[in-house]
Amino acid sequence: MNDFRLSLPPAGTHAEPAVLTRLSDLVNEVYAEAEKGLWRAGATRTSAAEVAEMTLAGQIAVACLGEHIVGCVRIRPIDEHTAEFGMLTADPAHRGQGIGRDLVAFAERRALDSGRRVMRLELLTPRSWTHPSKEFLAGWYTRLGYERTGVNAVDDSYPALAPLLATPCDMVVYRKHLEEG
Ligand SMILES: CC(C)(COP(=O)(O)OP(=O)(O)OC[C@H]1O[C@@H](n2cnc3c(N)ncnc32)[C@H](O)[C@@H]1OP(=O)(O)O)[C@@H](O)C(=O)NCCC(=O)NCCS
Repeated sequence: MNDFRLSLPPAGTHAEPAVLTRLSDLVNEVYAEAEKGLWRAGATRTSAAEVAEMTLAGQIAVACLGEHIVGCVRIRPIDEHTAEFGMLTADPAHRGQGIGRDLVAFAERRALDSGRRVMRLELLTPRSWTHPSKEFLAGWYTRLGYERTGVNAVDDSYPALAPLLATPCDMVVYRKHLEEG
Protein backbone atom coordinates (compact mmCIF):
# COMPACT_ATOMS: atom_id res chain seq x y z
CA MET A 1 0.00 0.00 0.00
CA ASN A 2 1.52 3.33 -1.09
CA ASP A 3 0.60 5.45 1.92
CA PHE A 4 4.09 6.82 2.48
CA ARG A 5 4.78 10.47 1.74
CA LEU A 6 7.85 12.15 0.31
CA SER A 7 9.25 15.51 1.33
CA LEU A 8 12.38 17.57 0.82
CA PRO A 9 13.16 19.87 3.75
CA PRO A 10 14.30 23.20 2.27
CA ALA A 11 17.88 24.46 2.45
CA GLY A 12 18.57 25.92 5.86
CA THR A 13 16.75 23.12 7.69
CA HIS A 14 18.46 21.89 10.84
CA ALA A 15 17.06 18.39 11.25
CA GLU A 16 16.43 16.97 14.72
CA PRO A 17 19.30 14.79 16.02
CA ALA A 18 16.96 11.78 16.18
CA VAL A 19 16.10 12.25 12.50
CA LEU A 20 19.78 12.49 11.53
CA THR A 21 20.56 9.35 13.51
CA ARG A 22 17.66 7.45 11.94
CA LEU A 23 18.68 8.52 8.43
CA SER A 24 22.36 7.72 8.83
CA ASP A 25 21.61 4.39 10.56
CA LEU A 26 19.15 3.43 7.83
CA VAL A 27 21.57 4.30 5.01
CA ASN A 28 24.49 2.56 6.70
CA GLU A 29 22.51 -0.61 7.49
CA VAL A 30 21.07 -0.81 3.98
CA TYR A 31 24.40 -0.16 2.23
CA ALA A 32 26.27 -2.59 4.49
CA GLU A 33 24.04 -5.29 3.02
CA ALA A 34 23.67 -3.92 -0.53
CA GLU A 35 27.43 -3.34 -0.92
CA LYS A 36 28.59 -6.39 1.01
CA GLY A 37 32.05 -7.45 -0.14
CA LEU A 38 32.91 -4.08 -1.67
CA TRP A 39 34.22 -2.32 1.45
CA ARG A 40 36.76 -3.12 4.10
CA ALA A 41 35.49 -3.76 7.64
CA GLY A 42 34.57 -0.54 9.43
CA ALA A 43 33.82 1.52 6.29
CA THR A 44 30.41 3.20 6.49
CA ARG A 45 28.41 4.98 3.80
CA THR A 46 27.64 8.11 5.77
CA SER A 47 27.36 9.72 9.21
CA ALA A 48 24.83 11.85 11.07
CA ALA A 49 27.15 14.84 10.58
CA GLU A 50 27.28 14.33 6.82
CA VAL A 51 23.50 13.89 6.61
CA ALA A 52 23.12 17.09 8.67
CA GLU A 53 25.23 18.99 6.11
CA MET A 54 23.28 17.57 3.18
CA THR A 55 19.96 18.36 4.89
CA LEU A 56 21.10 21.90 5.59
CA ALA A 57 21.95 22.20 1.90
CA GLY A 58 18.38 21.09 1.01
CA GLN A 59 19.60 17.86 -0.64
CA ILE A 60 17.92 15.10 1.38
CA ALA A 61 14.43 13.92 0.45
CA VAL A 62 12.79 11.51 2.85
CA ALA A 63 9.97 8.99 2.57
CA CYS A 64 7.84 8.67 5.70
CA LEU A 65 5.22 6.16 6.74
CA GLY A 66 3.39 8.02 9.48
CA GLU A 67 6.17 9.41 11.64
CA HIS A 68 8.61 6.68 10.63
CA ILE A 69 11.35 7.36 8.05
CA VAL A 70 11.36 4.50 5.53
CA GLY A 71 13.58 5.87 2.77
CA CYS A 72 15.68 8.71 1.46
CA VAL A 73 17.58 10.02 -1.51
CA ARG A 74 20.17 12.73 -1.95
CA ILE A 75 19.54 15.15 -4.82
CA ARG A 76 22.14 17.70 -5.77
CA PRO A 77 22.93 20.04 -8.64
CA ILE A 78 26.02 19.19 -10.69
CA ASP A 79 25.85 22.05 -13.19
CA GLU A 80 23.17 24.24 -14.75
CA HIS A 81 21.85 21.34 -16.86
CA THR A 82 22.48 18.33 -14.66
CA ALA A 83 21.37 17.03 -11.28
CA GLU A 84 22.49 13.86 -9.55
CA PHE A 85 20.77 11.50 -7.19
CA GLY A 86 22.54 9.19 -4.79
CA MET A 87 22.25 7.44 -1.45
CA LEU A 88 18.93 6.02 -2.63
CA THR A 89 17.64 3.91 0.25
CA ALA A 90 14.45 2.04 1.09
CA ASP A 91 13.88 0.37 4.45
CA PRO A 92 14.14 -3.41 3.91
CA ALA A 93 10.93 -3.82 5.94
CA HIS A 94 9.05 -1.82 3.28
CA ARG A 95 10.59 -2.95 0.01
CA GLY A 96 8.68 -3.54 -3.18
CA GLN A 97 6.02 -0.95 -2.34
CA GLY A 98 7.25 1.73 -4.72
CA ILE A 99 9.29 3.78 -2.25
CA GLY A 100 12.44 3.53 -4.39
CA ARG A 101 10.59 4.24 -7.63
CA ASP A 102 8.79 7.23 -6.12
CA LEU A 103 12.01 8.63 -4.63
CA VAL A 104 13.65 8.49 -8.07
CA ALA A 105 10.59 10.15 -9.68
CA PHE A 106 10.62 12.78 -6.93
CA ALA A 107 14.33 13.49 -7.56
CA GLU A 108 13.65 13.79 -11.29
CA ARG A 109 10.75 16.17 -10.65
CA ARG A 110 12.91 18.36 -8.43
CA ALA A 111 15.62 18.45 -11.08
CA LEU A 112 13.12 19.56 -13.70
CA ASP A 113 11.68 22.16 -11.31
CA SER A 114 15.18 23.58 -10.90
CA GLY A 115 15.56 23.85 -14.69
CA ARG A 116 17.80 20.80 -15.08
CA ARG A 117 16.98 18.33 -17.83
CA VAL A 118 19.58 15.66 -17.17
CA MET A 119 19.74 13.35 -14.17
CA ARG A 120 22.88 11.37 -13.51
CA LEU A 121 23.79 8.70 -10.99
CA GLU A 122 26.84 6.64 -10.19
CA LEU A 123 26.69 2.93 -9.54
CA LEU A 124 29.63 1.54 -7.57
CA THR A 125 30.39 -1.74 -9.33
CA PRO A 126 33.07 -4.38 -8.72
CA ARG A 127 35.44 -4.50 -11.68
CA SER A 128 35.96 -8.23 -12.02
CA TRP A 129 32.91 -9.96 -10.54
CA THR A 130 29.15 -9.63 -10.53
CA HIS A 131 27.35 -8.30 -7.50
CA PRO A 132 23.63 -9.27 -7.36
CA SER A 133 22.44 -5.91 -5.93
CA LYS A 134 24.35 -4.02 -8.59
CA GLU A 135 23.03 -6.26 -11.36
CA PHE A 136 19.47 -5.63 -10.15
CA LEU A 137 20.10 -1.86 -10.02
CA ALA A 138 21.70 -1.76 -13.48
CA GLY A 139 18.60 -3.48 -14.90
CA TRP A 140 16.17 -1.36 -12.93
CA TYR A 141 17.80 1.97 -13.83
CA THR A 142 17.75 0.90 -17.47
CA ARG A 143 14.03 0.14 -17.17
CA LEU A 144 13.57 3.62 -15.68
CA GLY A 145 15.17 5.16 -18.78
CA TYR A 146 18.78 5.57 -17.63
CA GLU A 147 21.64 4.89 -20.03
CA ARG A 148 25.14 3.89 -19.11
CA THR A 149 27.30 6.78 -20.32
CA GLY A 150 30.71 6.21 -18.75
CA VAL A 151 32.95 4.45 -16.28
CA ASN A 152 35.35 6.13 -13.84
CA ALA A 153 37.87 4.29 -11.71
CA VAL A 154 37.13 4.95 -8.04
CA ASP A 155 40.83 5.73 -7.55
CA ASP A 156 40.50 8.62 -10.03
CA SER A 157 37.10 10.01 -8.99
CA TYR A 158 37.23 9.43 -5.22
CA PRO A 159 40.85 8.86 -4.19
CA ALA A 160 39.93 9.07 -0.50
CA LEU A 161 37.51 6.14 -0.86
CA ALA A 162 39.81 3.84 -2.81
CA PRO A 163 41.80 2.59 0.22
CA LEU A 164 38.51 1.63 1.93
CA LEU A 165 37.49 -0.72 -0.89
CA ALA A 166 37.90 -4.44 -0.37
CA THR A 167 37.94 -5.11 -4.11
CA PRO A 168 38.69 -2.98 -7.19
CA CYS A 169 35.55 -1.05 -8.19
CA ASP A 170 34.43 1.39 -10.84
CA MET A 171 31.86 4.15 -10.70
CA VAL A 172 29.57 3.39 -13.61
CA VAL A 173 27.79 6.56 -14.68
CA TYR A 174 24.18 6.55 -15.88
CA ARG A 175 22.27 9.48 -17.33
CA LYS A 176 18.69 10.17 -18.29
CA HIS A 177 17.24 13.07 -20.26
CA LEU A 178 14.21 14.23 -18.33
CA GLU A 179 10.96 15.10 -20.04
CA GLU A 180 8.30 17.45 -18.70
CA GLY A 181 5.00 15.73 -18.04
C1 LIG B 1 17.02 0.32 -4.71
C2 LIG B 1 15.95 0.41 -3.63
C3 LIG B 1 15.93 1.83 -3.07
C4 LIG B 1 14.57 0.08 -4.25
O1 LIG B 1 13.64 0.23 -3.20
P1 LIG B 1 12.11 -0.33 -3.22
O2 LIG B 1 11.27 0.62 -2.46
O3 LIG B 1 12.08 -1.74 -2.84
O4 LIG B 1 11.80 -0.17 -4.78
P2 LIG B 1 10.38 -0.26 -5.52
O5 LIG B 1 9.35 -0.89 -4.66
O6 LIG B 1 10.11 1.09 -6.08
O7 LIG B 1 10.75 -1.28 -6.66
C5 LIG B 1 11.80 -0.99 -7.56
C6 LIG B 1 11.93 -2.10 -8.55
O8 LIG B 1 12.39 -3.25 -7.86
C7 LIG B 1 11.54 -4.36 -8.14
N1 LIG B 1 11.45 -5.13 -6.93
C8 LIG B 1 11.05 -4.69 -5.75
N2 LIG B 1 11.09 -5.70 -4.86
C9 LIG B 1 11.57 -6.76 -5.51
C10 LIG B 1 11.87 -8.07 -5.14
N3 LIG B 1 11.67 -8.54 -3.90
N4 LIG B 1 12.37 -8.90 -6.09
C11 LIG B 1 12.58 -8.46 -7.33
N5 LIG B 1 12.32 -7.21 -7.74
C12 LIG B 1 11.81 -6.38 -6.84
C13 LIG B 1 10.23 -3.75 -8.48
O9 LIG B 1 9.48 -4.59 -9.33
C14 LIG B 1 10.63 -2.48 -9.19
O10 LIG B 1 10.90 -2.71 -10.53
P3 LIG B 1 10.00 -1.99 -11.64
O11 LIG B 1 10.05 -0.50 -11.30
O12 LIG B 1 10.65 -2.31 -12.93
O13 LIG B 1 8.62 -2.55 -11.45
C15 LIG B 1 16.22 -0.62 -2.50
O14 LIG B 1 16.32 -1.90 -3.05
C16 LIG B 1 17.48 -0.32 -1.70
O15 LIG B 1 17.45 0.43 -0.70
N6 LIG B 1 18.60 -0.93 -2.11
C17 LIG B 1 19.87 -0.80 -1.39
C18 LIG B 1 20.53 0.53 -1.57
C19 LIG B 1 21.00 0.73 -2.98
O16 LIG B 1 21.60 -0.13 -3.58
N7 LIG B 1 20.71 1.94 -3.50
C20 LIG B 1 21.07 2.37 -4.83
C21 LIG B 1 22.52 2.68 -4.95
S1 LIG B 1 22.90 3.37 -6.56
